[in-house]
Amino acid sequence: MGSSKVILCLVFLLCSVNFFRAFATEFNVGGDKGWVVPTEKDDQLYNQWAGKNRFKINDTLRFEYKRDSVLVVTKEEYEKCKSSRPIFFSNNGKTIYILDESGLYYFISGVSGHCERGLKMIIKVLESATPQSANHTSSPTVAAANVANAIHGMMLVGVLIVGVFM
Ligand SMILES: *[C@@H]1O[C@H](CO)[C@@H](O)[C@H](O)[C@H]1NC(C)=O
Repeated sequence: MGSSKVILCLVFLLCSVNFFRAFATEFNVGGDKGWVVPTEKDDQLYNQWAGKNRFKINDTLRFEYKRDSVLVVTKEEYEKCKSSRPIFFSNNGKTIYILDESGLYYFISGVSGHCERGLKMIIKVLESATPQSANHTSSPTVAAANVANAIHGMMLVGVLIVGVFM
């Protein structure tokens, strides 16, 4: 009896995760390494990382770092690696940033010299909630997968609710 409840809870958790993933994704910036100055030959590391991902409105970026900071700046400031009045500033070691609008976001480190050494990144957030490729041809497979995920999640939650009350 006890163990079947535990299994139900696990299944429920997995479904919920699946369910919400259809709407927003949290990205760990830079993967396991986090937000750190790249090695010399990798000075495009973060833009390469960004290029491998598709960002949509309300997705979140998670920056993990030590003795560093995360700034959102203008394009000009990004290119100069300097900002006197950043749009956003955080240095608490674990920054969650919500991409709440479409368009371009320019991230840099505020620590002297770090941005110049590659601790910077441009994120492009696509117009619609459905991921699209850069040239605006829609990608129905991704959209269908998201819908399928959501339906899948809802169905399993429904089945579980029935199961619990039977
Ligand atoms: C983003 O989240 C806000 C607040 O939760 C919501 O009002 C808005 O509709 C969402 N936008 C999209 C495109 O999902």
